[in-house]
Amino acid sequence: MSLVDTETALAQTFASHGQSHVLRHLSSLTPSARVSFLTQLAEVDLALVARLAHGGEDAKLDFATLAPAPYVAIGNHAADARAHGEQLLRHGKIAAFTVAGGQGTRLGWRGPKGTYPATVVTGKPLFRVFAEQIAAAEKRFICAIPWYIMTSPLNDADTRAFFKDNNWFGRNPADTFLFPQGTLPSVTFDGKLMLETPGSLAVNPDGHGGAIRALHHSGALEDMHARGIAHMSYFQVDNPLVRIVDPIFLGLHAHSAGSSAEMSSKMVAKRDASEKVGVFCESAGKTVVVEYSDMPVELTNAVESDGRLRFNAGSIAIHAISVEFMTRLTHGSSTGDFALPFHRARKKVPYWCDAQGRTVEPTEPNATKFEAFVFDALALTAKSLVMETARIEEFAPIKNAAGDDSPASSHQIQSNRNAAWLERFGVKVPRRPNGDADASIEIAPETALEAADLANSALPREIKPGEEVVI
Ligand code: UTP
Repeated sequence: MSLVDTETALAQTFASHGQSHVLRHLSSLTPSARVSFLTQLAEVDLALVARLAHGGEDAKLDFATLAPAPYVAIGNHAADARAHGEQLLRHGKIAAFTVAGGQGTRLGWRGPKGTYPATVVTGKPLFRVFAEQIAAAEKRFICAIPWYIMTSPLNDADTRAFFKDNNWFGRNPADTFLFPQGTLPSVTFDGKLMLETPGSLAVNPDGHGGAIRALHHSGALEDMHARGIAHMSYFQVDNPLVRIVDPIFLGLHAHSAGSSAEMSSKMVAKRDASEKVGVFCESAGKTVVVEYSDMPVELTNAVESDGRLRFNAGSIAIHAISVEFMTRLTHGSSTGDFALPFHRARKKVPYWCDAQGRTVEPTEPNATKFEAFVFDALALTAKSLVMETARIEEFAPIKNAAGDDSPASSHQIQSNRNAAWLERFGVKVPRRPNGDADASIEIAPETALEAADLANSALPREIKPGEEVVI
């Protein structure tokens, strides 16, 4: 089809969906800008956008029958879980999978979030923290752990450049697989597509749930099959304390009660009722995560007879996912275009303002974004398992610029965890009245992947208040 024909066909289609306004600057674009804009427009699923704009696809939960999800409490796992997990690692059955396609708008960092300096003394970027952890596990288990990283079209080039500039953190680039997720247009509250510039639509990545489709379309899933990978260890880019390779969790996931779970999850006890995390629940016999914003307040606040929160199992977005499960989902759809339900969120989306002749950053939410959530896949599993872990051990998220879940709070949690590890070996660590470590303490993954590894390290006898220590 010629460019003119393409333009005419698109103009008709967009007009029939009441979206012809996005074509208003077409004639002012350079020929190449015009081609790239038309290519973008041709990829928009207008019927899907219309359907989502008039109501998301959120599952309707029956809150009357919603129950807390069962979970394996700390220390209650089968004795052989660790051995099973270690065996999987030694046999090269495990891959690391980071979702790093988010926009990180709350943090406000210019660049992919994985490039953010996250550790408490040396300021290692998140991607380096993960790379070092994976390298230490590869050394320990004498195996290769391929690392899959989902980017988005908005940050893929910058992420690749960062890896290249850092010499792939010493990894073999062939074992590091970056691939972009899909995007969806953002819409105004009355369902209209938005321009970000005269020649591009405002789009957003399609959520971490877009990972399933992206794993398939990018060839990552096929690559896992070719390498004989059985399970991926899924984690978010914003948690420097994540234990990427946790033999106990992987062993439990792959071998509990004789068969493998399809998708397993780690949970921590909620800090208090108001903590803004999703909660593992059971609905119609399946484990589900209910977002804090969707949970009725009486359930959020419900307590057991011993005073503990009834819905206590907070999600920290760490999963073990079987490759077979992902393959089953994507092969179940004829095009591989499997998609989890899209949820709607009111967000601030920059848009092109004709009157001002520039892109405007709104100060209030002005648009609806559509995103899929990976935990919605839990409801599609034949078997899934939730394992409790200690918050201090592996959850120090960096989401916001300040306050809760910020670099400052993450630093404190990192120091607290490292202090606790050192204290187990008799190191004297200064504490503030609230129990926080009064020092900045960093432990490199090659020194210790878990507390017990410090047994072989040279440790100080004492840390001074305010001291910065790297071990
Ligand atoms: P968040 O929900 O914290 O979103 O993502 P975000 O986009 O990073 O940050 P805000 O909301 O704009 O401030 C949780 C994890 O899911 C990934 C993120 O990169 C992060 O690791 N994610 C999120 C994706 O990979 N793709 C998405 O479309 C959304």
